[in-house]
Amino acid sequence: AESITGTLALSVFTAVLGSLQFGYNIGVVNAPQKIIEQDYNSTWMERYAEPIPPQTLTSLWSLSVAIFSIGGMLSSFSVGILSEFFGRRKAMLINNVLAFIGGGLMGMSKISRSFEMMILGRFTIGAYCGLASGLVPMYVGEIAPTTLRGALGTLHQLAIVTGILMAQILGLESLLGSEQLWPVLLGVTILPTVLQMTLLPFCPESPRFLYIVRSQEHHAKSALRRLTGRLEVSEDFAEMKEEKRKMDMERKVSIAELFRSPLYQQPIIISILLQLSQQLSGINAIFYYSTDIFKNAGVESPVYATIGAGVVNCAFTIVSLFLVERMGRRTLHMLGLAGMCICAILMTIALTLLETVPSMSYLSIMAIFGFVGFFEVGPGPIPWFFVAELFSQGPRPAAIAVAGCSNWTANFLIGMSFQYVANLCGPYVFLIFALLLLFFLVFTFFRVPETRGKTFDQISATFHRHPQNMMDMDLDMDQGKHSTELDYLGSDGT
Ligand code: GLC
Repeated sequence: AESITGTLALSVFTAVLGSLQFGYNIGVVNAPQKIIEQDYNSTWMERYAEPIPPQTLTSLWSLSVAIFSIGGMLSSFSVGILSEFFGRRKAMLINNVLAFIGGGLMGMSKISRSFEMMILGRFTIGAYCGLASGLVPMYVGEIAPTTLRGALGTLHQLAIVTGILMAQILGLESLLGSEQLWPVLLGVTILPTVLQMTLLPFCPESPRFLYIVRSQEHHAKSALRRLTGRLEVSEDFAEMKEEKRKMDMERKVSIAELFRSPLYQQPIIISILLQLSQQLSGINAIFYYSTDIFKNAGVESPVYATIGAGVVNCAFTIVSLFLVERMGRRTLHMLGLAGMCICAILMTIALTLLETVPSMSYLSIMAIFGFVGFFEVGPGPIPWFFVAELFSQGPRPAAIAVAGCSNWTANFLIGMSFQYVANLCGPYVFLIFALLLLFFLVFTFFRVPETRGKTFDQISATFHRHPQNMMDMDLDMDQGKHSTELDYLGSDGT
């Protein structure tokens, strides 16, 4: 098995500081909503000498929350261009400028008496997170040894959930979620930024990028030596050479080509659907509105139940970290979707019976904790790193851009619409998620291949061979590369 060198550990740690901020800024607006709204109101009073109309306040607040995903939607689309032009490492470094501006604007908005600054700050930090959500899995996937790609890839999600939990805890009114301190709560996102900028210069650039894209064999080898801790890297290098040989025969892959070329159609559809399965599972209905959901479900201290959900969220991501290289991506993803589907149904039952059976509030807590736990077993971590796995070096940046943008778009839609839909459907709102989850479960069963333990080259080769029949491919892959070739020759001959 591969060992984890100091350089590899440092590089992954440094990269996922970006994911930490992503999670932090998802979770940070949940708790201090009422307090920040008061400040919006007093600013309004100062400017117009009247209290802010409730409608306007709701709109301003929704905008402050949701514009984050719009920033992410727009920026995630340029992940491909930036990572090719500057390289993975420098792109992450440059991205920090956005975090500085975003954190600064939010932190200064109170003294400047400007909710416009807050909204602009949320947009900018969203743009930072959109880039991070593509650059981090790309970099980590490229520097990780094949046998640890899933486990290290899961660290991106682990950092996200840690960020969410930190924000939930720091957001308590007794800590930073108070009238005076909320600007600090929003501004501290700059701290991981500073740490990341300090550490990035000590991390090597992705050897795959250096060699396959830039043809810098010498630099690539020395980066590889640092990452593996071995002087002799010709074996790892041979695999990259093979990938480069194939890539040099292809033209550069644009986003449009991903959808046109029969080589990439299947994996890009799988990538997009996996992202949708993550977001349309309804997870962020919980992370944006849990306090409200718990309150409606009759839970006594909703704020603490929300933190409980954050703890479950972290715990099960760690579970997934240990399972992903053993049980594989496909199995865990299906397990997670199935478990979430059952929990969504339990939640519906609990909500419908609440009026007649008050103790149903316990069932809703269990159902929500279960929902979150199963999410982190598969649908949380896997889609993020799976896209980087499904594509070889050439199409990877474009694919990550498309997948990231679908993720953020779906995130935005759920964030904006959940409360309206919940008002319309009452206790049945989770049934919608149950149906969607069932659909994604069936899709994963029929269409998603296993990638565990395969090199990038082996993974993309399988799509080239059996573009129509994913189930066959899965069997072939499990028997190893050789039998895939034999099988291919065989079926060709008959
Ligand atoms: C994933 C999702 C994110 C969600 C988080 C919850 O990272 O992309 O939207 O909030 O999981 O843990």
